[in-house]
Amino acid sequence: MGTWQTFDTAANRTPIVDEALSVGMNLFDSSPMYGRAEETLAQAVNGRRDRAIIATKIWTSSPTEGREQANHALRVFGRVDIYQVHNLVNCPAQLRMLEQLKGEGRVNAIGATHYDPGGFDDLCDLMRTGRLDMIQVPYNPRRREAELRVLPLAAELGLGVLTHSPLRFGVLDRPPSPDVIESFGVRTWPQAVLKWIASDPRVSAVLTATKTPGRPTENAQAGDPPWFDPDQRERLGHQSR
Ligand SMILES: NC(=O)c1ccc[n+]([C@@H]2O[C@H](COP(=O)([O-])OP(=O)(O)OC[C@H]3O[C@@H](n4cnc5c(N)ncnc54)[C@H](OP(=O)(O)O)[C@@H]3O)[C@@H](O)[C@H]2O)c1
Repeated sequence: MGTWQTFDTAANRTPIVDEALSVGMNLFDSSPMYGRAEETLAQAVNGRRDRAIIATKIWTSSPTEGREQANHALRVFGRVDIYQVHNLVNCPAQLRMLEQLKGEGRVNAIGATHYDPGGFDDLCDLMRTGRLDMIQVPYNPRRREAELRVLPLAAELGLGVLTHSPLRFGVLDRPPSPDVIESFGVRTWPQAVLKWIASDPRVSAVLTATKTPGRPTENAQAGDPPWFDPDQRERLGHQSR
């Protein structure tokens, strides 16, 4: 579950996290870029931190501020399971700091993200250095640039892949008829789109975001097999154009 926009709030998001955990959605992604989201998430997982996998990010060009962001995240979360360099901002310095924290056992995995396919060449160069465990990129039936180089390279190198913005880029704008949706073995169009992403064997986790009760359950149901075969993925790709 992502926290951009949905967790930048003084509202209590414990009920959404309760629902997410109850349906097996246990990976939460945040960033200092998302305003108060880290605090809101930390509050919502308080008392059951061990049930959650926390992914967050360093997002600053300043090494000093990067250290402050890490101190803050480690204070509110205790440890960070997946620590990512957000949009590759000052990667050389931030990666060195994250590698130090990993060496100290305060971070489990190191990642890097980019929201813009224009940054994918730089991301691929970084992946080839062997310094990353994970990457995070946008991916859905209407945003498929990651299929060209990023996903094949991640598979070749054995890197974990988090995908973001599964329901954006207009993919929900023109849903097909209920009959067509049901022919994919799901109830709703968002579930069909999410299952299309999760059925790609190179994808480790699909990050959705919501502040609406009921949607974590709806979205999590797309994370169960049976997965779409290549023909179903192709057909759904056409439906979402
Ligand atoms: N690294 C990066 O550069 C980057 C960039 C973007 C995002 N991210 C991360 O990836 C996470 C996921 O991306 P995203 O926030 O774009 O998520 P998303 O799930 O694609 O989009 C979230 C939006 O979809 C709506 N939604 C969720 N489930 C729905 C459903 N079943 N039916 C209809 N609408 C639904 C939500 O509205 P309601 O709240 O009203 O339900 C929300 O407005 C982010 O939160 C963030 O953690 C990273």
